[in-house]
Amino acid sequence: MIYRPRRLRTDEVIRGMVRETRMSPDSLVYPMFVVEGENIKEEIPSMPGQYRYSIDRMDEILEEIEQAGVKSVMLFGIPQHKDEVGSGAYSHEGIVQCALRHAKQSHPKLYLIADLCMCEYTSHGHCGILHGEKIDNDETLSYLQKIAVAQAEAGADMIAPSDMMDGRVAAIREALDANGFSDLPIMSYSVKFASAFYEPFRDAADSAPAFGDRKSYQMDFHNRREALKEAMLDVEEGADIVMVKPAMVYGDLIREVKDHTNIPVAAYSVSGEYAMIKATAAAGFINEERIMCELAVGAYRAGADIYITYFAKELAECMKRGLIG
Ligand code: PBG
Repeated sequence: MIYRPRRLRTDEVIRGMVRETRMSPDSLVYPMFVVEGENIKEEIPSMPGQYRYSIDRMDEILEEIEQAGVKSVMLFGIPQHKDEVGSGAYSHEGIVQCALRHAKQSHPKLYLIADLCMCEYTSHGHCGILHGEKIDNDETLSYLQKIAVAQAEAGADMIAPSDMMDGRVAAIREALDANGFSDLPIMSYSVKFASAFYEPFRDAADSAPAFGDRKSYQMDFHNRREALKEAMLDVEEGADIVMVKPAMVYGDLIREVKDHTNIPVAAYSVSGEYAMIKATAAAGFINEERIMCELAVGAYRAGADIYITYFAKELAECMKRGLIG
């Protein structure tokens, strides 16, 4: 026998030496929810272990995140007041703007990514400006510009548009540049599917659409070539990082985007992925830590440079312990 692949699997040392996928906590991003009000830390029922924090209590989680060695968080805001145009998303006193200012002060070393979308702020729960039941793409762009500038002024280190309107990366880039933020990067949710995996998030952020669904703007998950089209368009429009979302069962597209672009690729392991692991582990059917690790490695192996996950803290610990990476 000439080839014996098992030779390189003999023990921990040689397996570590020939390992093809290397990860570091540097590449992890922790998504978190900030809610208006005071003294709030409430668990999200469909996402055990994840909480909504009011600003006066968000330092607790920022502390934990930093301690774990995670360097970046992505902020989602849950406003008390919603309206037709999602004004809370761009108001100077909007929840995310307040949270950004607070976090910048209390944890200056943390890298703050602002998710940019209207669905948490609109009374109808859609990610744009409505005329009747139709979203006006181009009118929405001017709102996205306002939100981006407000987030930048509040101290965001990166803007991450998740609305899926056409032309939004170029529009946001233009607005940021015009307002003195030409150094602020954009991470675009480029390949974002209309996915059932977001359900727990909508519960968490109270952002489910009041009617219809998001299929006229989020992608059809049957499509692979279109994923590439979306990613390439965002690259042309000036995105600094492209994202594929969800991550689980979208490894083929992470790879596709990775092979056809020359900018970093992020993968977002979304709420439904988290909820599935949590629930199955709670039932005793799987080992939570090992499944979490395997899922993460799968995304990196597919080509992710950045991994956005509710398990960021736990994964950082596993990487430090040498369980993966
Ligand atoms: C906002 C947004 C959503 C998610 C991230 N940004 C929900 C949606 O598009 O309905 C989902 C994140 C998750 O499920 O963890 N548009």
